[in-house]
Amino acid sequence: MFQSLEALPADAILGLLADFVGDDNPDKVDLGVGVYKNESGHTPIMDAVKKAEAICHQVEQTKAYIGPAGVPEFNESIRKLIFGEDHPALRDNRVNTVLTPGGCGALRVGAEFLNHCADDITIWVSDPTWANHVPLLGNAGLKLVQYPYYDQHASKLRFDEMMSALTRTKAGDVVLLHGCCHNPCGADLDEQQWQAVTELAEKNGFLPFIDMAYQGFGRGLAEDAYGVRLMAERLPELLVASSCSKNFGLYRERVGSLSIVSAQQAHGQAAITHINNVVRGNYSMPPSHGGAIVATILQDAALRQNWVDELGAMRNRINSLRTLLVEKLAEAGAGKDFSFITQQFGMFSFLGISKDQVRQLRDDYGIYMVGSSRINIAGVSQTNVEYVAAAIARTIAP
Ligand code: LMR
Repeated sequence: MFQSLEALPADAILGLLADFVGDDNPDKVDLGVGVYKNESGHTPIMDAVKKAEAICHQVEQTKAYIGPAGVPEFNESIRKLIFGEDHPALRDNRVNTVLTPGGCGALRVGAEFLNHCADDITIWVSDPTWANHVPLLGNAGLKLVQYPYYDQHASKLRFDEMMSALTRTKAGDVVLLHGCCHNPCGADLDEQQWQAVTELAEKNGFLPFIDMAYQGFGRGLAEDAYGVRLMAERLPELLVASSCSKNFGLYRERVGSLSIVSAQQAHGQAAITHINNVVRGNYSMPPSHGGAIVATILQDAALRQNWVDELGAMRNRINSLRTLLVEKLAEAGAGKDFSFITQQFGMFSFLGISKDQVRQLRDDYGIYMVGSSRINIAGVSQTNVEYVAAAIARTIAP
């Protein structure tokens, strides 16, 4: 049976890693996969995580099954982190949360859950969006339609076009939004724009599904959750997928959450039985180790502060690298205004250069980025920034 299979091309993002590792250019720079890196190009384990992990090893009493919803202490504390401790939706018991294997698990479980709610659901996704949204949502049977979001050549948000496309949504449609730090473009909605989208959701009756994979990486923990918190207050229903890969650095532990905001507590209680059914039919229950680490951090005042400080340091480093890269590009005579990079948030920005130029940067300089010209800003460092800027300037020179 297997002999008829042809090998698939490597994943557009994860495939870069193997190519980078195999490159013997001593000056090579990895601006590909979205992982945080420190000045030496290393992705460290956060201090708060190390400490929490030691506590977990000490207090853990059993490895018996935990159930489809995962670690209850995690569900409780991540919900407060996402929505804010005293959010009205939490006070009214309108939010149910389950631990999932990463943000990907949350997106997939959310998509399959939607199939329990109605047939033939259309989900609107931003153009561009994270490449893996397509299989995660599409392979669950949802029909994907794009709405305009970002103009890569003009390097700006297409908000008016986005709104005019979303006026065509109807009740029962789902709209996928990036909560903060848009992947791949880094251009986020401001508060007024979130308000406008919320009003449109109220008017047209579409269900927002917010993917928040980078809470704390953009402006701050509360600031990055502005859209989620607004929608949860104003709208009857909402889905939120979140990830602890980036903000807790727990990438390979696969920790994420899916929250369902429902109009009434009873609806949520019924919905969670469907979520548990989806989980049981897929992977039965999530691994608990990463969730236990996050719960330990969030429930201990000192560990939590330690984590908040470390997260703040990562955020500040990325934001200052944005400024540094733009300065060095100007000094290198890039001849293009890259200042938009300093107005964007999170790990990513598009350089807005052609696929050939992306290939040339890789072949001639060992600089790796996604074919769309998305760069991981955290891969830039004080040491490599001049090399990177000079290479880009030479490659895009007319
Ligand atoms: C990325 O966009 O690079 C990350 O979210 C990693 C991934 O799984 O694609």
